[in-house]
Amino acid sequence: MKKDILTLLDLEKKDFENLFDRAMKLKRNSKNRADRKVLEGKSLGIIFDKPSTRTRISFESAMLQLGGTPIFINAKETQMVRNEPVRDTARVLSRYLDAVAIRTYSQDLLNEFAAFASIPVINALTDLYHPCQVLSDLMTVIEYKGGYTDLKIAWVGDGNNVSHSWINAAAILGLNLTLACPDRYFPHPNVVENALQRKSGKIHLTSNPEEAVKDADVIYTDVWASMGQESEHKARMRVFEPFQLNDALVKLASKNVIVMHCLPAHRGEEITEEVLEGPFSVVWDQAENKLHMHKAILETLMAV
Ligand code: CP
Ligand code: NVA
Repeated sequence: MKKDILTLLDLEKKDFENLFDRAMKLKRNSKNRADRKVLEGKSLGIIFDKPSTRTRISFESAMLQLGGTPIFINAKETQMVRNEPVRDTARVLSRYLDAVAIRTYSQDLLNEFAAFASIPVINALTDLYHPCQVLSDLMTVIEYKGGYTDLKIAWVGDGNNVSHSWINAAAILGLNLTLACPDRYFPHPNVVENALQRKSGKIHLTSNPEEAVKDADVIYTDVWASMGQESEHKARMRVFEPFQLNDALVKLASKNVIVMHCLPAHRGEEITEEVLEGPFSVVWDQAENKLHMHKAILETLMAV
């Protein structure tokens, strides 16, 4: 049966571990240009309805480095903008391609596409989740910290799509995750409730950023207004100001803290220039790891 990654809840702990191992190995091999062309003759449709730098290009490069062909599809140039149903598009593209990575607004649209597609469907970001991002983020945590158990991981800022995928990962891997968000900007209650029901991770919510980052081993932040929320930008800036990741906040963390951001970063908003470019920031390695993790994901779903 085809396997999709629509949310991290589609994966079991063993799947995470296999992806981490495989991505690390691919990273080592890529330094020697020793990739095996396991996806030769296969094609990946990359259907994006929102902007992207990292996710798009790393999926494209991942496909090419594994011997396959990426085909970028601007969703706005397809017949979907003229109301061709998602279910028809999914069935037709399944006849041309071997897998698709989709970036769109609605998780329901993605789920419907996957339900009608006969090829693997990968969530490359929706308003609700960003699962591949958090897979490569965890790979970065493992590289820097040797693992993820017994770490205090602090999320500071908006309870958005990336935070939701962190919550899912916490539920499956048993992470110790504290999220500090302004009132009204906490993660979606259904996402939190579902994670808490699994009773494996420690998930704490607070509106106090100092409490979240105190003694943290990992601090993560993301933009205050995600794609699709541009009209709320100004109002959000006022509310989120106390949640800026700056030197004063980072000083409260463990002395070996790593600072993460999925990028793009808005310097002077959710993170200061000093912190982003400072000694604790791992954001460039974090961005690189998207390539290696996407290769591991594509191999796992497509090389059969
Ligand atoms: N982190 C991330 O998903 O970046 P892009 O929006 O550039 O793909
Ligand atoms: N939360 C951000 C992530 C960008 C990679 C957004 O959805 O815009």
